Amino acid sequence: MFRLWRLGCRDEFRVTTAAETPRAAAGQLAQSEQIRRARLRVAESITDLIGDTPIVRLHTFEREVPGVEIWAKCEFMNPGGSVKDRAAYQMIRDAIRAKALISGKTIIDSTSGNTGVAYSLIGGALGYPVTLVMPANVSWARQQITRAFGTKLVFSDAMEGSDGAIVLCRKMVAENPDAYFYPDQYSNPSNPLAHYLGTGREIWEQTEGRVTHFVTGIGTSGTVMGTGRRLKEYRRDIEVWAVEPDDALHGLEGLKHMASSLVPAIYHPEELNGVIAMPTEEAWDVSDRLAKEEGLLVGHSSGGSLAGGMRIARKLAATHKPGVIVTLFPDRADRYFEAPVQKQQPPPSPGK
Ligand SMILES: Cc1ncc(COP(=O)(O)O)c(C=O)c1O
Repeated sequence: MFRLWRLGCRDEFRVTTAAETPRAAAGQLAQSEQIRRARLRVAESITDLIGDTPIVRLHTFEREVPGVEIWAKCEFMNPGGSVKDRAAYQMIRDAIRAKALISGKTIIDSTSGNTGVAYSLIGGALGYPVTLVMPANVSWARQQITRAFGTKLVFSDAMEGSDGAIVLCRKMVAENPDAYFYPDQYSNPSNPLAHYLGTGREIWEQTEGRVTHFVTGIGTSGTVMGTGRRLKEYRRDIEVWAVEPDDALHGLEGLKHMASSLVPAIYHPEELNGVIAMPTEEAWDVSDRLAKEEGLLVGHSSGGSLAGGMRIARKLAATHKPGVIVTLFPDRADRYFEAPVQKQQPPPSPGK
């Protein structure tokens, strides 16, 4: 019989053996044509292309853990280049429906970058101006990208990290509440809802219900909370693990060390199976391997998530247990490339 490989896998149209009957062959071909057409997406707006990202199998990592499958959800393939397109779009759509975002208001939020790119793209597509408050040391590339959409940037003290940006943003909104719509991604239930409605369902469908573990990094925690909730609704024994930096001073942009941070209101660690403390070096090493061995040039938080997944996979393999581990790659590495000229310029001062 024809055997179509899993939906979302790059080999999904590969025929492994000959069809037993012409009818079976015709049925399978019709199905593969449907899949092909589903992939040839035609959109009315760029926002229609948010979500429905592929999953990819990581064969070189699987070799280390016999009996365990390792997959990654390619969130860097969203139109804004990151997982944050999902949360930003859900928060903005829900606000428009609730009339909290009306014409003339500016979307404002604190963001370490990816959510800012997402707001900028969606604001551009829907016609709302965007102001972003970000730490002054956020990567040059992300400053350039957001500015290119016409977004206004306000810088908080680099030493205060993402929490400093949150505090400054709240102050600006309190001083001028009618001018702004403040989605507040750290407290907004639409953030995890985006992943409950999208990411979790997609992973379930893409693995044909075989997923046993979901492992991903935490920033606002929207991804892990929403995806985890949905997967556990499908099957209670699916394990959901968060990965956080092991230290307050870390090099995993986009991720939060909860013990030293303002804890997001949407974060409910009691719903998780556990939190893995990830050293920066371990995450960076895995990111390097992903580029060189799998051709995946992803950000360091992706390396951290996969490193967490591999720790679980090694434990399973050591006890000869099977598993289907799905991790998630939030963005690509090129978002963090530095312009050489930036090194000669002092960082922008807070509030400018
Ligand atoms: C690079 C990167 N990784 C991971 C995350 C974590 O996503 P979440 O905010 O849904 O926890 C973010 C969030 O901004 C991010 O930018």
